Amino acid sequence: MIYSVINQKGGVGKTTLTCNLAGMLAYIHKKVLVIDLDPQSHSCSYFGFNDPYTGISDALLSKKIKPRIINVRPNLDIITPGYSMFEFEIGNKTNSNKLDQIIKELPTDYDYIFLDCPPSSGSIVTQALSATDKVIIPTTPEFLGMKGLNVMLSTLEKWSAHLNKSFDTMIIATKFKANNKNHKQNLESIRTSNPDLVFKTAFLESTHVSETPTNGKTIIDSTKSKRLITNITLITKEFLERT
Ligand SMILES: Nc1ncnc2c1ncn2[C@@H]1O[C@H](COP(=O)(O)OP(=O)(O)OP(=O)(O)O)[C@@H](O)[C@H]1O
Ligand SMILES: [Mg+2]
Repeated sequence: MIYSVINQKGGVGKTTLTCNLAGMLAYIHKKVLVIDLDPQSHSCSYFGFNDPYTGISDALLSKKIKPRIINVRPNLDIITPGYSMFEFEIGNKTNSNKLDQIIKELPTDYDYIFLDCPPSSGSIVTQALSATDKVIIPTTPEFLGMKGLNVMLSTLEKWSAHLNKSFDTMIIATKFKANNKNHKQNLESIRTSNPDLVFKTAFLESTHVSETPTNGKTIIDSTKSKRLITNITLITKEFLERT
């Protein structure tokens, strides 16, 4: 199953969620691939991999190039953004199925493939949405985050019309401050506006979470904090129930 993790709004926790969910799924023996579609290559950093390597953009630009699959943990592989994301973004005007074709040629034994998207609605995200009908939208439960979510949902409708497909959508609140009254109210409001789409568990804000990529780690690799491990376990459980 292939999931695009998207939100046009930057910094909402797309990459942090993708990598921690992927890390946890691999930890419980699911076979997982993360394709880093963001030239910032932050997903790679979460797994301690900071070399560019031949990646997805190189394969998108040239049929002769195969993206290199890098094993970073037991059951967990990544593909880097590669060297050519800029060239791909400015050059790609027509075929939105290139990523889909590349993914179809990858090994077929992955339980889950995550496409960590950049904060945009450009060609690379169109490629991601052409390759999947499943979408995860991380959103922060604050005013601009909620505005961003509404814009994201209406953009997704436009993509749906453009690509002539519907999307199975999940929303998850990220950087959630459990003691913050505003966050709690906003989360309730997101739930009311999007019944059934929103995860029961929100991804808690924690300094530890923001520091983990420094050491190339995810929560499950790096902490004994019961609160954080329980949090990512509940998110993973709910993800599995919804898939
Ligand atoms: N649960 C969390 N607790 C604390 N900090 C977090 C949490 N999730 C994300 N962050 C921090 O917020 C910032 C943005 O997170 P992240 O890179 O995951 O967002 P993004 O949506 O992928 O960003 P971009 O739009 O640039 O791709 C980072 O500094 C990250 O460490
Ligand atoms: Mg990101």
